[in-house]
Amino acid sequence: MQNNNDHSNERDNRALAMRVDHAAKDFPVLTSNGSPTNETFCVFEDVNFDVHEGEFLSMIGHSGCGKSTLLNIMAGFDRPSRGGIVVDGKEVTAPGLDRMVVFQSFALMPWLTCFVNVRVAVRSAHPDWTKDQINAHTQKYIDMMGLTGAESKRPSMLSGGMRQRVGLARAFCVEPKVLLLDEPFAQIDALTRGVIQDELMRMWEVTNSTVFMVTHDVDEAILLSDRIALMSNGPNAKLAEIIEVNIPRPRTRQQMIDSPEYTRIRNHILHFLISHQMAAEPSGSEEGGSTEPPDEDAKSQQPSASAVV
Ligand SMILES: Nc1ncnc2c1ncn2[C@@H]1O[C@H](COP(=O)(O)OP(=O)(O)O)[C@@H](O)[C@H]1O
Ligand SMILES: [Mg+2]
Repeated sequence: MQNNNDHSNERDNRALAMRVDHAAKDFPVLTSNGSPTNETFCVFEDVNFDVHEGEFLSMIGHSGCGKSTLLNIMAGFDRPSRGGIVVDGKEVTAPGLDRMVVFQSFALMPWLTCFVNVRVAVRSAHPDWTKDQINAHTQKYIDMMGLTGAESKRPSMLSGGMRQRVGLARAFCVEPKVLLLDEPFAQIDALTRGVIQDELMRMWEVTNSTVFMVTHDVDEAILLSDRIALMSNGPNAKLAEIIEVNIPRPRTRQQMIDSPEYTRIRNHILHFLISHQMAAEPSGSEEGGSTEPPDEDAKSQQPSASAVV
């Protein structure tokens, strides 16, 4: 387990892809109709960890602890109140093609076909490429993500699973320094989710990508990750610990569930989540202003051990 105040790459020699350096975020307390007051609350504080090149790092924590806020800060969509994010020795201050994001809500351009949704990203990353080069690279990632045959369809004509394949192809095709995934499978039915998790794992292995993924699914995190970061509850959430997942790769679900390491890690995470849920329950959600996530289905996003194993 890693201490939150250590930067683990100072102890080993794995190359650093991204550093989250003592990051903290304050938001205004909102009134019941959603307008900001002069008071602030701290969503999370002193969050400190490294993402190593080529690793798959996941983050789990209860709804509202600030996972999406942190991911948005890592992407450069928002700024931390204290601390910072460092990539290639430079502080992140804006979005960039070195940090591609995959959202739970897919966020595709609805008027463009599946192929063009991916091609737009390739063209932005390689403005000097010829049309043929751009098209060939786009097709490669369309094929890798199992989208062959759906190139000319618009997002509205695709299932949730297919839409998220487009989202993943669009992010991977840029070959960014770090891929940031915010609960990418939360809106996909359980059986399709399993298939796309396998595709993501294969894509990550083939492309040697670096991934930071927020999830509320314990089994998904164990299947995919090299390390899993556990966040305590907000407000004032903290990075409680980082767990190493020492299950050999390539992994299959069958091998994973038979592994004693899987049982040990799963129990450890579930104990952590249950103890934090119990700690949060007696005080309710009133304290600290509007600290609940804005969406209606927040309860369904509570961390869970997935049925899909
Ligand atoms: N723009 C904002 N203004 C005020 N509060 C916000 C804003 N965005 C998020 N929050 C609050 O910050 C907390 C963390 O939200 P979020 O990062 O979405 O949590 P998670 O992704 O872990 O469920 C929640 O209490 C949420 O209501
Ligand atoms: Mg979130």
